[in-house]
Amino acid sequence: MASTRGAQILVASNRGPVSYTLDETGTLTSKRGGGGLVSGLSAIGPDAGALWVCSALGEGDREAVRRGVGEPGVRMLDVDAEVHADAYNGIANSVLWFVHHMLYQTPLEPVFDAEFRRQWAAYETYNHAFAAALAEEAAEGAAVLVQDYHLTLVPRMLRELRPDLRIGHFSHTPWAPSEYFRMLPDDIAAQVLGGILGADRAAFLTQRWADAFTDCCHAVLGPGIPSGTRIGVHGLGADADFLRERAHRPDVEERMAALREEVGEGRKTIVRVDRTELSKNIVRGLLAYRELLASRPDWRERVVHVAFAYPSRQDLAVYRDYTAAVQRLADEINAEYGTPGWTPVVLHVKDDFARSLAAYRLADVALVNPIRDGMNLVAKEVPVVSDEGCALVLSREAGAYEELGEDAITVNPYDVVGTAVALHEALSMPAGERAERTKRLAGAATALPPARWFLDQLHALDT
Ligand code: G6P
Repeated sequence: MASTRGAQILVASNRGPVSYTLDETGTLTSKRGGGGLVSGLSAIGPDAGALWVCSALGEGDREAVRRGVGEPGVRMLDVDAEVHADAYNGIANSVLWFVHHMLYQTPLEPVFDAEFRRQWAAYETYNHAFAAALAEEAAEGAAVLVQDYHLTLVPRMLRELRPDLRIGHFSHTPWAPSEYFRMLPDDIAAQVLGGILGADRAAFLTQRWADAFTDCCHAVLGPGIPSGTRIGVHGLGADADFLRERAHRPDVEERMAALREEVGEGRKTIVRVDRTELSKNIVRGLLAYRELLASRPDWRERVVHVAFAYPSRQDLAVYRDYTAAVQRLADEINAEYGTPGWTPVVLHVKDDFARSLAAYRLADVALVNPIRDGMNLVAKEVPVVSDEGCALVLSREAGAYEELGEDAITVNPYDVVGTAVALHEALSMPAGERAERTKRLAGAATALPPARWFLDQLHALDT
């Protein structure tokens, strides 16, 4: 695997910028991902001595590591598959994700038993593999940017191995309120916080999540941020140049034509695009749409809910069940209200970025109603590419609310009736007002382009 010994800038994350698939003939195909880190690293250029340390995630990635196939500037760690599964599925996505997004059904969950302790040990091992690789690769005094809840223990571990490094940790999720965070066993809560506090700087997407982190430190570790770690906030915006160019390519135009056909002439669209992930609140979104059709029959036949719900983390039963619940409810609504010429809910589950952009361009209303969300980039991307203006129905619990709240119609994500009212308001918004709001939303959404988000974090480590 390619590596750059003596890297000056290192990024560490569970999911890296490239993934490999292995077909029946044994051929490996690589696919590059997008996102803020990818933009940031391309902004600093290939000669900056940057290295991205990430995890081998599937059989294709593991085979690539075994064959020594890779990209310059990327080092994939082939951690034992069971250790990875316990750390990623068991701890990161079933415990830390649930805590920060407040997803537990609390009378029965969570249960921190011996199985949890076993998985926690794997999480430590997994974090240690990252810390060791970073310690090995980093040049003297290098900057290391550690990403997210998968790697909370890395800053402390790395600090012990390499006290010379400048270390940042960035949380892409919300941070739990301290009462909720303290459901974690005390020693584990202290380890998570202490792990991040091993960094020189702990950064978050919004002030709200940064404050929650500080509250948790006070509640669990006592007053004051003990290690002198600085706390930072870096909002992440949409990549306007990339999106506008990508959204006008022929494949997007083709998908727009197909979508128009599916929706039917003259109908309005309520669009949502999410990973099928519990915090996204897709089921309550569908319930709100059903409530709209029930309480305001004049919308029947005149609106279509275009819902793209792309499967995510399907190794976990709770995510599979949720995916099935979304499908079931969409079918129910179609059976209850559909007519020969009108399908009230058009649900697509196969990930297709060009089709997502097509839906963004066509949407009259965008529904973004997460229970909690670190930021939510869909809320920021839609106004940027919208053709004729799109009314945004936005959860007040999304990080994006801090920047977009004024021009969105905001909802309490649990309030299905309230969300139905908001959908009605959004559908009824006059075209002129919608266009004006969309323009302002696009301005706010692009104020912090991904490259700047990344560079700001990097520079902040120097100060
Ligand atoms: C969130 C997390 C990221 C994660 C992404 C996709 O945005 O903050 O760290 O990569 O979800 O989830 P996945 O489990 O597929 O990597």
